[in-house]
Amino acid sequence: MSTTAPFASYSAHVAARAATTARALQETGFDRLLIHSGTPFTYFADDNDAPFHSTPAFAHWAPVEGPHHILDFAPGRRPRLVRVQPRDFWYAPPAPAPDFVRAEFDVVEVSTPAAAWKEIGSPGPRTAFVGGAAEEASENGIAPAGLNPKPLVARLDWERTYKSDWEVEALIAATAKAAPAHRAAEAAFRAGDPEIDIHHAYLTALGDVEDALPYTSIVGLDHHAATLHYHGKSGRQTTKARVFLIDAGATTRGYASDITRTYVAPGADPVFVRLLEGMKTLQADLCVTSRPGKSYVDLHFETHRGVAALLAEAGILRIPADEAFEKGLTYPFLPHGLGHFLGIQVHDVAGRQVDREGTIAPPPARHPALRTTRVIEERMVFTIEPGLYFIPMLLEPFRAGPHAAAFDWALVDRLVPSGGIRIEDNVFVGTGANRNLTREFLPD
Ligand code: GLY
Ligand code: MN
Ligand code: MN
Repeated sequence: MSTTAPFASYSAHVAARAATTARALQETGFDRLLIHSGTPFTYFADDNDAPFHSTPAFAHWAPVEGPHHILDFAPGRRPRLVRVQPRDFWYAPPAPAPDFVRAEFDVVEVSTPAAAWKEIGSPGPRTAFVGGAAEEASENGIAPAGLNPKPLVARLDWERTYKSDWEVEALIAATAKAAPAHRAAEAAFRAGDPEIDIHHAYLTALGDVEDALPYTSIVGLDHHAATLHYHGKSGRQTTKARVFLIDAGATTRGYASDITRTYVAPGADPVFVRLLEGMKTLQADLCVTSRPGKSYVDLHFETHRGVAALLAEAGILRIPADEAFEKGLTYPFLPHGLGHFLGIQVHDVAGRQVDREGTIAPPPARHPALRTTRVIEERMVFTIEPGLYFIPMLLEPFRAGPHAAAFDWALVDRLVPSGGIRIEDNVFVGTGANRNLTREFLPD
């Protein structure tokens, strides 16, 4: 992480956090907020830790590595960052706070978590605490009502919906970083490499260790593409693969990119190739039409209508697309949502939160996997990731169902070895037009 200060937008980002957090505290009856950066997770009965991820609410303020730090905010005074820098020769200590962070916070360095709490001092009855270390916070004087208070957390989550320039810059940088790695993975597929080698080609081009990825990469050849979160990386291949689905991102300054491409090689089933071309067009349209005022749920339904049209055109469904949509025959082919908010978390917060108070709008009953039920607004960043898969366990009930005759089952069976299709871009809702961040770096 750079320790210089090239990020003019960071100062404005912290000022915005101060303003929105002051309002949230005032609305919820608190006058001070402590945000904990997290505690390492040690596997049960073991001495190995999981890769450490900062508390997202902490990362929203400061891209500062490592556990046990406490961010201390009170309206009207400069925020403080009590940073725990252990003296350790077993593990490399986290990088120091970058200069651009030091420019915005009073940074205090201590060597133990206990010393951090001592530095915080007596919290006072109207201090709120956000973080996973609730027990530790309680032991250090935070009242029960101040531990991750829901009305406050809802407001902090809500503000993360609207990305500042600083955040958009980080998301763009995370995309720029992932794009060459996607190209390297495609080249490895075209060279006939197995999944494990494609995965390594991706990491090598990225220049990161696996733990630094925002999520476990999905590298699926042929039928593996039909497992939505396929995490295996097979090392063996008896025949050259015809289909390759890669869903992989990168992290920059705590922000994630989340990108999926599906490629075909010569010899791929021609019906599958046509479906892929149709999906590219549908996905590109959705990236443009997902504009302010539109409901993300409606877009999700539009996607199902589009998938119905592709299936009917390919002859996989033998009834008109509208009828297929109305009868729900696209469900087994597209069991996930159109997309989700993107930011510090790959599946970012507040996708179903429809007001700052925390009201949740659940997804439609037959679409439980849809993560975003909001009406689109400027400065949101979300993924647009329609898919179309041949998943035997989802198709099976339709084989014997009342609409069985609407499917060309021989064609479905022929396409099962091709796995599936997903195309995923990251979209920033700008003034006047959307900005497809992914296509700026990965046009195809
Ligand atoms: N990479 C996980 C997803 O696209 O939601
Ligand atoms: Mn995604
Ligand atoms: Mn993805």
